[in-house]
Amino acid sequence: MWIIRTASWNLDLTPDLISMKLQEERSSKKSRFPLQVRQSIPVSFRQALNDIYYDWVDTRDFLAEIVSLVPSHNMRIFVYRYILGIKLGTLTTVHRGCRFYFPSGVAIGNNCVINRDVLLDGRSGLTIHDNVSVSEGSAIFTLDHDPNSPTFENRGSPVVINNQVYIGSRAVILPGVTVGEGAVIGAGAVVPHDVEPYHIVAGAPARTIGHRNRNLTYKLNYRKFLG
Ligand SMILES: CC(C)(COP(=O)(O)OP(=O)(O)OC[C@H]1O[C@@H](n2cnc3c(N)ncnc32)[C@H](O)[C@@H]1OP(=O)(O)O)[C@@H](O)C(=O)NCCC(=O)NCCS
Repeated sequence: MWIIRTASWNLDLTPDLISMKLQEERSSKKSRFPLQVRQSIPVSFRQALNDIYYDWVDTRDFLAEIVSLVPSHNMRIFVYRYILGIKLGTLTTVHRGCRFYFPSGVAIGNNCVINRDVLLDGRSGLTIHDNVSVSEGSAIFTLDHDPNSPTFENRGSPVVINNQVYIGSRAVILPGVTVGEGAVIGAGAVVPHDVEPYHIVAGAPARTIGHRNRNLTYKLNYRKFLG
């Protein structure tokens, strides 16, 4: 729908910005609706729809945050899966205090451990494959702002974490990154680029400091009492 399509991740869609975007739409001629129809929708109504959309998004993020404090893993997983739309595989655990941006954009495979206080951002799509360990306090982002944009435009790119990756505590993974199978991200690393399979990276920006054996046989299944 055109109205929703214009609702980008820019939270400050002022009437001026909306007019600018309208102008872009007109010149790009991509809209499915004739110009007369688009012009007939008042700016204030479009702004109201935009606000409702973001209130709904915020509400879901807030629900995910509240649920993260419930000391029952089964209950948390139920809400994540069936109410918030997070795709969660079998024997995957999400420990207490984790936060999600746009939960339905997050997909996690089997036998993963998402440890306490991790932040997972699904706004541009986050895929975590099987047997991945994400340690306490890490953050994986899929959206940021173009620092050179006069209007502070958003830019997003999906993140993919492949099988058997181990992410150390308080690592930060930036939008657009793919972490190859079996790779290790050191504690506190900042990862702006793709990581090769079975490389061990650390530091900010993360650089290869070693290589991991390929004969990994473990399957994660780490569930804490009270979650
Ligand atoms: C990345 C990691 C797995 C590397 O382990 P390793 O392969 O045994 O590496 P080493 O300890 O031999 O260190 C190799 C070099 O990298 C450096 N290094 C290791 N981890 C680092 C990190 N997180 N950040 C920066 N440098 C790091 C070491 O200082 C060493 O440098 P040096 O040779 O100049 O002394 C480990 O250091 C790490 O960060 N683990 C995560 C810990 C954690 O988050 N625990 C909670 C999960 S339960």
